[in-house]
Amino acid sequence: MIDPLLIPLVFFMTVLISLCPPLIPIVEAQDGCVTQKCHSTMLKGKSVHPGADPCEGCHEATDTTHPVKGKKTFKLLQEPPDLCYTCHDAFGTGEGMKLHSPVEEGTCTVCHNPHQSDQEKLLVQPMGDLCFGCHENNISDASVHGPAGVGSCTECHNPHQSKYDKLRVEEGEKLCFLCHADIQEDLKKGHVHTAVTMGCPSCHNPHSGPYKMMLPADGKDLCFQCHSDISDIIKKAKIIHPPIQTERSCVSCHSPHAGKTEKLTDKMGKDLCLECHKGIIGTSDQNLHGPIKQGACVACHDPHGTPNDKLLKKHYVMDYYAPYNDTNYELCFSCHDKELLRFPDTSFATNFRDGQRNLHYLHVNRKKKSRTCRFCHEPHSSKNPKLIRNYIQFEQWRLPTNFEKTETGGTCTPGCHKKVIYDRETPGKEPEKPPKTLPP
Ligand code: HEC
Ligand code: HEC
Ligand code: HEC
Ligand code: HEC
Ligand code: HEC
Ligand code: HEC
Ligand code: HEC
Ligand code: HEC
Ligand code: HEC
Ligand code: HEC
Ligand code: HEC
Ligand code: HEC
Ligand code: HEC
Repeated sequence: MIDPLLIPLVFFMTVLISLCPPLIPIVEAQDGCVTQKCHSTMLKGKSVHPGADPCEGCHEATDTTHPVKGKKTFKLLQEPPDLCYTCHDAFGTGEGMKLHSPVEEGTCTVCHNPHQSDQEKLLVQPMGDLCFGCHENNISDASVHGPAGVGSCTECHNPHQSKYDKLRVEEGEKLCFLCHADIQEDLKKGHVHTAVTMGCPSCHNPHSGPYKMMLPADGKDLCFQCHSDISDIIKKAKIIHPPIQTERSCVSCHSPHAGKTEKLTDKMGKDLCLECHKGIIGTSDQNLHGPIKQGACVACHDPHGTPNDKLLKKHYVMDYYAPYNDTNYELCFSCHDKELLRFPDTSFATNFRDGQRNLHYLHVNRKKKSRTCRFCHEPHSSKNPKLIRNYIQFEQWRLPTNFEKTETGGTCTPGCHKKVIYDRETPGKEPEKPPKTLPP
């Protein structure tokens, strides 16, 4: 038996239910939006957004029917970025944080698919391609930096925000030290190149560069970008110091990053030079020239180049005979007093005298057959006192000097004249007087 009173109720219910169907698809959508027929690619991919299910986390229906051709029947609960920030921490909140332009504009979906992706982090494209969609491709040169070349842009840049310039993940050179700890060690050597304190990109392009190590120029040309003074020296040089012309060029002596000396070399003073010029100080030479005792090869030589022979800083005659003039021995007289050969007689200007007769004057300060310093002296070292050479080059012969120093003078038997003695206290000593005129 049906209670007649129920009839209107059942009728009412039926009407109610018949009004309901339009709502059913919405109800079904909760677990049926992704079917073989509808949104079939949705939530399929190497990674699925954990926030993409349920759909209502972000979408809400705006119509009772769905789908409707040519009409939007869903809207987002909110627009990105606020939508995303309902579950994710908002960007740009930290002290001094600067936002990447598209993040500032809230266009998260330019880079992320909100549902799924075959890329990591729901990216819409592989990282490099994604960035180069808006930025000029900066990986175009011959030498490519490892991480940039494989598109690992986010090893160095935060894609959203950063306190540091250019969205760097770390400040200045610390960024580079994340992976190049050896260079960080290098900088502890003491003297850091000012160019490094200006930032590593002042030389290395972090992405790619036309020359090895992502450098903007090769060899010495890199250095000349900032050191035009050295470039000028080299342009005017009679000879350029050969190591500069090698592939390593300037870095054969200087470290580009830091050195133990303030001139950015690792070897001090003469040790740097002797590494390549071992023979310059003979093994039996006990007597070193003053500046060499102090290790200063650079007192006489410019390590880059000069307008003079042998990289000498000042003029110095390389022949054994040359008429005397004031400029021939500029080098020596930048430290020694010219007085030593100015006058035929002296009691103090030089020890190379017989009594008062100045033997420097006699040999050097002449118009004809004038001997040069080089005739008698070595510039670096000698086994003899007073830097007297072991041999005198006479035409094609090498004549031994046999120099011997005495308390008050010296003797020598060079072969161009017989044994001679000079003595400051007793001039004209035997066995032989110094000749009045020199042999030819
Ligand atoms: C985390 C938030 C979020 C969730 C959850 C979400 N979506 Fe979306 N969906 C979006 C956003 C944001 C857009 C707009 C994308 C754009 O602007 O490119 C969108 C767009 C769409 C679009 C239209 C554009 C397109 O990509 O074809 C469809 C269809 C869609 N979503 C379906 C779904 C379905 C089905 C689900 C559940 C399986 C779902 N969404 C879950 C955020 C979400
Ligand atoms: C309903 C909450 C919710 C919303 C809204 C939401 N997400 Fe997520 N999202 C998550 C959860 C949960 C995870 C996984 C945990 C995590 O990484 O924080 C996640 C992870 C991610 C990841 C990392 C994926 C991975 O593979 O590691 C990205 C990228 C992402 N969301 C982007 C977005 C974007 C863009 C929006 C806005 C369009 C958004 N999310 C909105 C919940 C949400
Ligand atoms: C310019 C492209 C770009 C934009 C715009 C962008 N993202 Fe990302 N997002 C990325 C990249 C690239 C990663 C991967 C980072 C990584 O691998 O370290 C990422 C990672 C994420 C992650 C994963 C967590 C993490 O930090 O690794 C979340 C969450 C996320 N983004 C949310 C958002 C939200 C929210 C927005 C909008 C406010 C947004 N993104 C805008 C490129 C972008
Ligand atoms: C939707 C376009 C778009 C995408 C995609 C994009 N960027 Fe940008 N990016 C911009 C704009 C716009 C600027 C600001 C203008 C400028 O400085 O060139 C910017 C600026 C930058 C800056 C310089 C910031 C500064 O302080 O000068 C870096 C670095 C950067 N983006 C890296 C990336 C990386 C890495 C990616 C890929 C993960 C990427 N961008 C993807 C649009 C984009
Ligand atoms: C090894 C770290 C590193 C990697 C990897 C890297 N960058 Fe950079 N990027 C930098 C540094 C450092 C700067 C700042 C250069 C400067 O100060 O001159 C920069 C600057 C930029 C700029 C600003 C414009 C400019 O040239 O000054 C953009 C855009 C950029 N990078 C995009 C990218 C993209 C896209 C990728 C991935 C293909 C990428 N970067 C990979 C370190 C890196
Ligand atoms: C995410 C790690 C990473 C960061 C950060 C990084 N690099 Fe590198 N860098 C590498 C890798 C990997 C190589 C390739 C190493 C190789 O070929 O031996 C490389 C190579 C180099 C080289 C060439 C070395 C060679 O022997 O050819 C230079 C120069 C260089 N990086 C400079 C920099 C500078 C400058 C920065 C900071 C702007 C920086 N790197 C930041 C990973 C990094
Ligand atoms: C004055 C220009 C200059 C600056 C500034 C500079 N570099 Fe270099 N860097 C060079 C040159 C030149 C070489 C090649 C050296 C060689 O061939 O011995 C080099 C080599 C390298 C190498 C590879 C060889 C090695 O020594 O391991 C790395 C890595 C490197 N630099 C990283 C850096 C980092 C990090 C910074 C910032 C702290 C930096 N550079 C700053 C010029 C520079
Ligand atoms: C980006 C510009 C720049 C580049 C490139 C550069 N330098 Fe420098 N360098 C400087 C600056 C600036 C100083 C500091 C100058 C000063 O104090 O007078 C300096 C100082 C030096 C010093 C020490 C000078 C002194 O008087 O103490 C040496 C040595 C040096 N650089 C060698 C090199 C070499 C070798 C290269 C090439 C591998 C090079 N530099 C490339 C900018 C640069
Ligand atoms: C044979 C080793 C050697 C080579 C190669 C070399 N230098 Fe030097 N450089 C030195 C020495 C040693 C000094 C210190 C000179 C001094 O103290 O008077 C120096 C000094 C400098 C100074 C400082 C200038 C000053 O007045 O003190 C700069 C800058 C410099 N070199 C740049 C370069 C450049 C650029 C190149 C490549 C064209 C280069 N060097 C090649 C050994 C070398
Ligand atoms: C007092 C100045 C002076 C000092 C200091 C000096 N030299 Fe010399 N150097 C010269 C003179 C002058 C010559 C030229 C010719 C000669 O008489 O041998 C020369 C020539 C050279 C030559 C060329 C040799 C040849 O046979 O062509 C080399 C290499 C040389 N010096 C290296 C050095 C080294 C290394 C040091 C430091 C240990 C040094 N010099 C210190 C003055 C000096
Ligand atoms: C990396 C190796 C190397 C270093 C370091 C080096 N030289 Fe040289 N130098 C050479 C070579 C190679 C030559 C040409 C052959 C020769 O004369 O031995 C040369 C030639 C010279 C010459 C003769 C130039 C001419 O006119 O013939 C002088 C002088 C000289 N070097 C001085 C120095 C001084 C001073 C230093 C230290 C500041 C130094 N060298 C460091 C490699 C080097
Ligand atoms: C940079 C300065 C300097 C230059 C340039 C220089 N000398 Fe000297 N010379 C010295 C010093 C310092 C002494 C040591 C003086 C002392 O011990 O009283 C010295 C000593 C000497 C001695 C004596 C050696 C001894 O054992 O007592 C002779 C000889 C000599 N120099 C010759 C020369 C000649 C030749 C030249 C030119 C090629 C020259 N010097 C260039 C600084 C220089
Ligand atoms: C004919 C050989 C000869 C010639 C040429 C010569 N010297 Fe001497 N020089 C000597 C002798 C020998 C001594 C050692 C004197 C003594 O102490 O007994 C000496 C000593 C010196 C001394 C040490 C100080 C002094 O006067 O007693 C200097 C400095 C010196 N010579 C520089 C020069 C210079 C510069 C030239 C070239 C302008 C030069 N010499 C040319 C033989 C020569």
